[in-house]
Amino acid sequence: MPSKQSKILILGFGTVGQGFFDLFTKKRESLGLNDVTISEIVDMKYGHIVNPKPDVIGEIATGKTFPPKDVISTIKESDADIVCEFTWLDLKTAEPAYSHVKTALELGKHVITTNKGPSALKYKELTELAKRKGVKFLMKGTVMAGTPSFNLLDLLPGAEVKSVRGIMNGTTNYILTSMEQGKDFSTALKEAQELGYAEADPTNDVDGFDTASKITIISHILGWNHEFKNLEIKGIRKVTPEQAKEKTKLIAYADRSTAYVRPTKLSKEDILSGVSGVMNAIEIDTDTLGKIYAMGPGAGRTQTAQAALTDLMRIVRSTTH
Ligand code: HSE
Repeated sequence: MPSKQSKILILGFGTVGQGFFDLFTKKRESLGLNDVTISEIVDMKYGHIVNPKPDVIGEIATGKTFPPKDVISTIKESDADIVCEFTWLDLKTAEPAYSHVKTALELGKHVITTNKGPSALKYKELTELAKRKGVKFLMKGTVMAGTPSFNLLDLLPGAEVKSVRGIMNGTTNYILTSMEQGKDFSTALKEAQELGYAEADPTNDVDGFDTASKITIISHILGWNHEFKNLEIKGIRKVTPEQAKEKTKLIAYADRSTAYVRPTKLSKEDILSGVSGVMNAIEIDTDTLGKIYAMGPGAGRTQTAQAALTDLMRIVRSTTH
């Protein structure tokens, strides 16, 4: 059972931050994490919360706020050894998450993030920094939320990955599934927005950038190091209802020499052709097992919190063994 004392600082207390707080509180005892505490939270809207009460989400729901504090100063002054970065996504600059992650790593703190910005755009720099400092920089939540994806490889020592292929964006898969059933693109997009699936900026989803950031992250994890800026990225705006009916899906693909995101017509025998609605799926082709698959949700409050909890357990186990 893990027993080392650890303190967690949460940056960003929106859907993911609150989801993680809730899930951590609920699962803490069964995971043997009684010596691990969420000691601080900092958020632009709610302020700086020290030693949050178990009911902190209820408190802020009633309108309570805490003294404002700058995020970088909070990281620098905090005695937490684990920082959870849950702020917003910017796929152009990776900021402010990049500075948050960098500051925490430089101070020798482990970092867990669900943010694709620093993970996709600054992977090499931040991973090398973490290595130098002897801490972990983990990002399971960036690809398919808590659904096992690249972390399946932890269970396959020695397996060499030949290629990775997948449906990694729920919004576009939902839209294509609706189009398959006869709706046009704009109606399906509007529906996806009303259901809250799309990112703040739907461009990231429909034009393929969200998917591209995910295949970039996988490619870095596998050591293929394809750069986001060099990827061929095609979204789904030009897919017709006829093509959607013929099982055209937004496919992300990578092997050692290439990586791309593009709408692709799949054969009926292709397992990925049966993945519908907001579901995500990944196919990993290995030298030892051939093709293996995982399918599940790629977004959502608890689903993303599961990813951060998975990363937390990895840190706790590595520091207590
Ligand atoms: N907007 C993304 C999706 C979720 O629709 O899959 C987070 O990556």
